[in-house]
This record gives sequence, C-alpha cells and structure tokens, in this order.
Amino acid sequence: MNQELLAKSMAYAENNFLSNTARHLHVDKAFIKQHFNLKGKRVLDFGCGMGGMTLWLAQNGSCCEIMGLDIDGHHIAIANQLKSKHKIENVQFEKRDITTHPLPPQYEGSFDAIFLNDVVEHIPYPILEKIFAEFKRILTPKGRIFVSYPPWQSPYASHVVRVTKLPWCQFLPEGILLNWIEKKNQVITGEHESDLVAAYKGLNRLTHEQLMHIVRPQGFAIAQRLSHSLLRKLPILRGLNPNIFPFHFLISKELLILEKQVL
Ligand SMILES: C[S@@+](CC[C@H](N)C(=O)[O-])C[C@H]1O[C@@H](n2cnc3c(N)ncnc32)[C@H](O)[C@@H]1O
Repeated sequence: MNQELLAKSMAYAENNFLSNTARHLHVDKAFIKQHFNLKGKRVLDFGCGMGGMTLWLAQNGSCCEIMGLDIDGHHIAIANQLKSKHKIENVQFEKRDITTHPLPPQYEGSFDAIFLNDVVEHIPYPILEKIFAEFKRILTPKGRIFVSYPPWQSPYASHVVRVTKLPWCQFLPEGILLNWIEKKNQVITGEHESDLVAAYKGLNRLTHEQLMHIVRPQGFAIAQRLSHSLLRKLPILRGLNPNIFPFHFLISKELLILEKQVL
C-alpha cells in the first residue's frame, strides 16, 4: 500500500472512531447507544475493517474486552496502528477467516454482543450462513447481534455513488454500470478488494428478506428493526410505512438486533 493511500485510510478510520457525526455512521452510533449497554461485556466486532467503529465501541461502551476480526490484512494493519496511536488497551485486532479457522473452544458461548457494521452485504450467501452458524456457537445464550447494511434496493447500495453521483445506479444494465465504474476506477485499501470495480463485484445484493432467509434457520429472530429512510426528510410522508413498495426504495440503511430464538 502506498503512503498516500495509507494516510488517507488512517484519516478515514480515525474519523469513524472520533466523530459522532460521520455521515454514514451517526445513525448506527445513536442506535447502538440507545440499545446496548456494553459495560463489562465481551464484544466481537466482526468485519471490523480499519477499526474505527471497534475503537469507538471500546471507548464508548467501556467493555472489558473487544475483539475485532477481519479477513483483510491491510485493514487489520491500519486498525492496529490506530489502536496504538490512541493507546486503547481493551481491543485486540486479528486477521482471521472464521469459516476456515473458527475461534478456539474457550470462546464458545462467550460473546455478549457481536457487531456487523456494513459487512453482511459484502459476503457471499453460503459463507454468510457459515458465519451465522459460528455466531450461534460463540454467543452467550442471551447475547445479541447488531447488523447494519444498505439493502440492495436502497439509493447508495452500489457503494460507488461517490464516483457515479447517481443514486440507485445498481439498477442500470450491468455492462453500462461496470464500464462506468471502470472509467472512474480508484484504488482502495483492501488486500482482497483493492479497487472500486472489485468492491462492486463483491456485493451480494442483499435484501432484508434474503438476510432473514439466512439467519432464521440458524435460530435468530429480530428483536429490534430500524429501517432508516429518506422519508424522514419529508414531513408529510414521515408517518408512512418505509417497508412497503415503493417507499422501500428510500431506505438508506437497515439496522437490526438479532437474538437467539427461545424455543
Ligand atoms: C465496508 S467494510 C466495513 C468495516 C467496518 N465494519 C466499518 O464499519 O468501518 C466490510 C469489511 O468486511 C470484511 N469482510 C468481508 N468478508 C469477511 C469475512 N468473511 N470475514 C471477516 N471479515 C470480512 C472486509 O474485509 C471489510 O473490512
């Protein structure tokens, strides 16, 4: 990774850590503050990326122990630099693929909370199924999972609107969109996904229904759901159900808390 990209990535991750108003995270942070008391808990930040949210959780939740896992070595390297810079002790970052290298037995039933912030839409469905099966094993009986992601029909789900400047561009014919992204392509930090084309191709086109299809067979049910919608910006439409057609196209992010279903 070149020095310029490293510095840019560090600045991005640091802003995710320190700012409560960082545009794509302020809703998540407010929701987490409202619904989680992490004091003294053991927490997993799965797909922690460059660690900004992990450090925020560690500092704001006063959790006794937080682990940030990611399959991407570049992201973990930046997360560790940020941890050292801010001298946050209660966090451990690790590069690990839990589908091939599950956490050792001492972690069984040990995590009170697992966070997946902007992660589930990046993972192929069969792998996501394996990951949720692993969560079932490592979560405490009353443990909870926080999931946030932009559902596929949402305006920014393509993850490339910053270059196309066109919300919902994922619905353009595939060839046209790919051509467009290739022309505007940019190098990004990932070890696996190192440019915008790879990042776009890595998306699994996740919808709420599809996610439920994956998590329910693993015994998880929704305890909380917030469909964060652009409808809130239009006072006369604010009271409408954001999940019905065609308003569901205005949901910018789904935020969920999943719990193990009591049978
Ligand atoms: C958009 S980033 C989100 C990072 C971080 N959660 C945040 O909010 O800043 C998605 C992350 O998921 C990670 N990821 C993708 N597949 C994964 C897998 N199978 N196991 C662990 N992490 C994964 C990627 O490497 C990437 O860092």
